[in-house]
Amino acid sequence: IIRINSYRGQTPPGPRPLPFVGSLPHYIKEPREFVRSMPQYGEMSTVYLGRKPIIMLNTVQVTKEALVQEAFSGRPAIPLIEWTTNGLGIIMVTFGHSWRQQRRFALHTLRNFGLGKKSVEDLVIEESRYLISEFLKAEGKSMNPQHALQNATSNIICSIVFGDRFDYDDKRFSYLLKLLNDNLMLAGSAAGQFFNLVPFIKYFPGPHQKVKQIASELDGFIRKQVKEHKETLDPDSPRDFIDAYLLEIEKQKSNDDSTFHEENLVISAADLFQAGTNTTSTTIRWGLIFLIQNPDVQERCHEEIFQVLGYDRLPSMDDRDKLPYTYATVHEIQRYANIVPLGVIHETIRPTKLRGYNIPQGTMILTNLTAIFSNKEHWKHPDSFNPDNFLDENGHFSKSECFIPFSLGPRVCLGETLARTELFLYITSLLQRINLSWPPDPQPLDMDGIMGVFRLPQTFNIICCSRDTKE
Ligand code: HEM
Repeated sequence: IIRINSYRGQTPPGPRPLPFVGSLPHYIKEPREFVRSMPQYGEMSTVYLGRKPIIMLNTVQVTKEALVQEAFSGRPAIPLIEWTTNGLGIIMVTFGHSWRQQRRFALHTLRNFGLGKKSVEDLVIEESRYLISEFLKAEGKSMNPQHALQNATSNIICSIVFGDRFDYDDKRFSYLLKLLNDNLMLAGSAAGQFFNLVPFIKYFPGPHQKVKQIASELDGFIRKQVKEHKETLDPDSPRDFIDAYLLEIEKQKSNDDSTFHEENLVISAADLFQAGTNTTSTTIRWGLIFLIQNPDVQERCHEEIFQVLGYDRLPSMDDRDKLPYTYATVHEIQRYANIVPLGVIHETIRPTKLRGYNIPQGTMILTNLTAIFSNKEHWKHPDSFNPDNFLDENGHFSKSECFIPFSLGPRVCLGETLARTELFLYITSLLQRINLSWPPDPQPLDMDGIMGVFRLPQTFNIICCSRDTKE
């Protein structure tokens, strides 16, 4: 208590913490309200979700000022993640040599994927045909869109990393996607949080063992892929991320500084697979909810798409400028869905200063995207779903500086371009071909969603009807 009180004089203001647990009980009770109330303390606030202080950045200005700096680009060591990744990979590795090498290599491979082969855009256009036909298999019947969307988004990163897509009825792959969902729920659960407070429970049975088991199964799947790639590798013609990585291991063999080895390959590939699957599919799932709740927006998008593309030509990225209302709707879906409500946690890697406060090395930093996405001074309609938030008075698309769903600075989302391509092409092609509605007597949905690191919608069903014969 004395330590917390001495910190409190020097850090930005915030709610008075309870001993040991800080504000955790308030956060757990009403996470969205808790986070949305932070700007009352100013542009920065201090919260204790446990015993250590965390600084929350509540406006886009202070977020930009902080996150562009190297000093703010570390990651804290989170026991549950250390346990499952052995400190390897990209996402949760702190700022330093290994993170830099792995990130640069992954970015390079993602960017160059199109060379001589199909571009990422071609892959997404091709996959959107499978997605539409999967949705229409259940035409007129109540269906849960989760699996098809997850499979469609995952297939793009799978093509890049493993060199192949998976059919929507592939049982083994469906099982892997289910593991990803279970992992997401478990990591954000009370059991996951408890593990982070008392990590020595790893030696005892309990629900945390399931997290380890899921991580091992995912790693096992990737190890099998690596083994098959090694057996068929042609050094003159790398097929995907795994091939390129195996060649890099060989190239850097005599370099003592190299962080390229098979264990890092497995965890980096797992990072890309996990980050590239549920983020985009969750955003589209929220999108379906908003579009069904706002049939006028759905109709207006369809009309615009139909005018420009007709029924048969699937959209491409070049169509964005011709579809300003649809493009604005895709952005509004991302803003209103707000799937990473507090960003991904950062940590300062050296003592630094921000807005006059001295911030010690090792301070945890969260970006309050929830507050930024509902800032009343910046958005025309902060609290409702309205594509006008991204349109100027002439109906042209206009992007707000507050729109930072992929964060910014050295740690900016590595899959931003890929995600933006998938969101635009999947959502636009669904709106072109399919009318979305609720089944009779839909389940009431809690629009706060399920809050953890991600904000997930509750399970829901929809009805899809082809627009084909109705034009
Ligand atoms: C990191 C958002 C899709 C790969 C992040 C971060 C955010 C984010 C907020 C944290 C940035 C920070 O630490 O400040 C999103 C959203 C997505 C999406 C909203 C989709 C709608 C993807 C995809 C990939 C991906 C498709 C696949 C390649 C990553 C990786 C990182 C990351 C590897 C870690 C970067 C690092 O720590 O250096 N993403 N992401 N993301 N994302 Fe995404």
